[in-house]
Amino acid sequence: MADYKKIIDFIKSVYGNKDFTPLAVPVFAGNEKKYLNECIDTTFVSSVGKFVDRFEEEIAKYTGAKRAVVCVNGTNALHMSLLLAGVKLDDEVLTQALTFIATCNSLSYIGAYPVFIDVDRFTMGLSPDALKEWLTKNAEVRKNTRVTDLPKSQDFVYEEDKLACYNKNTGRRIKACIPMHTFGHPVRIEEIAAICKEWHIELVEDAAESIGSTYKGKHTGTFGKVGAISFNGNKTITTGGGGMLLFNDEELSAFAKHLTTQAKIPHRWEFRHDYIGYNYRMPNINAALGCAQLENLDRYITSKREVAAEYEAFFKNIPDIEFFVDSPDTRSNYWLNAIILKDKEAQLDFLEQTNDNGVMTRPIWELMNRLPIFENCESDSLKNTIWFADRVVNIPSSVRL
Ligand SMILES: Cc1ncc(COP(=O)(O)O)c(C=O)c1O
Repeated sequence: MADYKKIIDFIKSVYGNKDFTPLAVPVFAGNEKKYLNECIDTTFVSSVGKFVDRFEEEIAKYTGAKRAVVCVNGTNALHMSLLLAGVKLDDEVLTQALTFIATCNSLSYIGAYPVFIDVDRFTMGLSPDALKEWLTKNAEVRKNTRVTDLPKSQDFVYEEDKLACYNKNTGRRIKACIPMHTFGHPVRIEEIAAICKEWHIELVEDAAESIGSTYKGKHTGTFGKVGAISFNGNKTITTGGGGMLLFNDEELSAFAKHLTTQAKIPHRWEFRHDYIGYNYRMPNINAALGCAQLENLDRYITSKREVAAEYEAFFKNIPDIEFFVDSPDTRSNYWLNAIILKDKEAQLDFLEQTNDNGVMTRPIWELMNRLPIFENCESDSLKNTIWFADRVVNIPSSVRL
């Protein structure tokens, strides 16, 4: 049995909390109040204001994306990403069962189906090996026969690609793949991108948790057609609620801006709309918070990586517990620190002992394929996914200043 007292005392000492150590709390150590006051004083709290443009420009610069487009949250950023990737009713989307519900909800809004592919032992995100194996067994590339009956006002993507990927078992088109950079640790994204290209599948990255995380020096969320970030309150930086789309394609980003702002044709007084649009634009007041938070992002990531290094050194000397580290070629933001316990029993024991003694910890999300809403969806063996689900516990991970 693990020496819980030693572990709990250590975690408390990392953050200097005697009584209660939360899992992840936001830090407001910069210009947040100043920028918020500016919004209130000028009355620009809603859909118009300088902070929205500034936040988009600064995130694009920070991530190296050609352009970034704000959203109200990460979930609708993912929904928009999939619409822009051309996912339509009855299509299939390849993703992980080990993810937060928003990944699967976003594709379900379109009436698409998830197919669950196993994760990688060393990244905890979608495995390119499992992806390739599943596609080789179950998919074929052939001429696109998918004719949508959507009215033009809702049909954003014309299937000019002559070839498309189909699931041989269900007959459905496999339109997109969404890997998720679990807990901020980048997946083997280059290999996944190459597989998607070979199989004529659009790549959309769920980078909700990975602001500041890079793969071979390139920011997560910039490898595919679109990437989606979240600025929810528990993330590395927050806008209260918020999301961002990352693009390498200027034209597509301009269209995203149009769709996320009710598809209104710009005019001084006329209200004319050319598509069924969405009210997905982040308000100025949230963007103001984002601008202030972004000024400190590098500092926050340095702090999170320092905390992770301390955990890593500590857990090296604790039998039967592995601290999960980022893999070669990647630099993780260590959004949520994770440890791997011996088995399910050890996991439950750890959760109970820590939560009973003032250290907040939690298991990985319930796997998507185990939720009644997705239990009939196709999947591979999910070997590593199940192995992680039975063993992973997230431990306190806030920025420490
Ligand atoms: C993997 C993942 N995808 C999507 C989201 C959705 O983001 P939001 O909460 O901003 O809607 C989150 C987090 O909240 C997430 O962790």
